[in-house]
Amino acid sequence: MFGKKEKQASSKVDLERIPKHIAIIMDGNGRWAQKRHLPRIAGHKRGMETVKTITKAASNLGVKVLTLYAFSTENWKRPEQEVSYLMSLPGKFFDAFVPELIENNVQVNVMGYIDKLPDATRQVVQKAMDDTAQCDGMVLNFALNYGSRSEIVSATQSIAEAVQAGTIDPSDIDEQLFAKHLMTSSLAPYADPDLLIRTSGEQRISNFLLWQIAYSELVFTDGLWPDFNADTLNNAILEFQNRDRRFGGIKSK
Ligand code: IPE
Ligand code: IPE
Ligand code: MG
Repeated sequence: MFGKKEKQASSKVDLERIPKHIAIIMDGNGRWAQKRHLPRIAGHKRGMETVKTITKAASNLGVKVLTLYAFSTENWKRPEQEVSYLMSLPGKFFDAFVPELIENNVQVNVMGYIDKLPDATRQVVQKAMDDTAQCDGMVLNFALNYGSRSEIVSATQSIAEAVQAGTIDPSDIDEQLFAKHLMTSSLAPYADPDLLIRTSGEQRISNFLLWQIAYSELVFTDGLWPDFNADTLNNAILEFQNRDRRFGGIKSK
């Protein structure tokens, strides 16, 4: 169990109905820094501290999977200095935080085009996954160099290869088979987020988990990611718990 402080913030939520998979588009680091006349990277540094806070809060609430969008396949468009700082963050984060993750039985997973990351970044994320492989509590799933359209294209390619090799027939392709070729397949039975949160007031998906969020509840919060905390997480979960999820059916009595 992580410290008690985060526990109090969860007192209003129904602990029996915690979303099993929460995904977050962590947005607003740059604006947080800009408001303080600081370089954008200062916002990313502070955002990393928020990741620790929210990981602890989610783990204490009994969340099964916490997926965090850390770097998109489109974020390479940013200035080289910013990209290089973002690529150094996993090293800083895991160095400081892996012992605490292990203590709390949190397993690290990283999904995305990992082979395209700088060597040093790839090595530290691989080490964090190896070091926490035996943990079977919450999965802390980072989307790093992740893009959903590319993911869907890659899945289509690997299915086409299987058809060409004769291991499956086109008629075998259904939603279940397709989902098995996505980067979230290892998270089954929690592959699809129940709740998707985006901070910073932007109301768009920015190429995140397009297939997986078909029936996720979407919550957009105005605050910037570095200001997100256990209370704002708690409020997003409360909003989730007030929604009526019908999945195309009718309201259950
Ligand atoms: C989110 O914050 C972090 C990443 C996308 C890596 P931003 O860096 O997008 O912050 P804003 O949106 O410019 O404020
Ligand atoms: C989405 O945020 C990507 C991450 C949070 C890692 P962006 O800041 O890159 O998205 P846009 O450019 O506002 O759509
Ligand atoms: Mg942004």
